[in-house]
Amino acid sequence: MVYLTRVEHFNAAHKLENTNWSAEKNKEVFGKCANANWHGHNYELHVTVKGTSQADTGFVFNAKRLSVIINEYACDKIDHKNLNLDVDFMKDKFTTCENLAIGIWEQIQPVLKAEGVDLHCVKLYETERIYVEYFG
Ligand code: NI
Repeated sequence: MVYLTRVEHFNAAHKLENTNWSAEKNKEVFGKCANANWHGHNYELHVTVKGTSQADTGFVFNAKRLSVIINEYACDKIDHKNLNLDVDFMKDKFTTCENLAIGIWEQIQPVLKAEGVDLHCVKLYETERIYVEYFG
């Protein structure tokens, strides 16, 4: 099995808030991400597909096509958007790095499957020091 990863970037605004909690509790749990007037992150997205090296190309999957799919079905819907307000697949969810990684998986996995490649991992960095990995 060979694993191929494509890296993309996007920027987005959000806030983390549990509306059942006071502002103080939200601040205690979510820290700066609870800021009432939003804030942004520079996200780094790593999408890994897996398969075998194809006889006619030597590729697991065309990396350029992988980039097009990631951008068309995920990044273009998120980049320079407000995750809480603008992104249909994040509606009514906590806009955490965890839920965003799951949401991105759900956007791109069916497209990749239809093109004959298996999605292995969506790895999403919210900061240089915090990332999540989702394996489906
Ligand atoms: Ni944040």
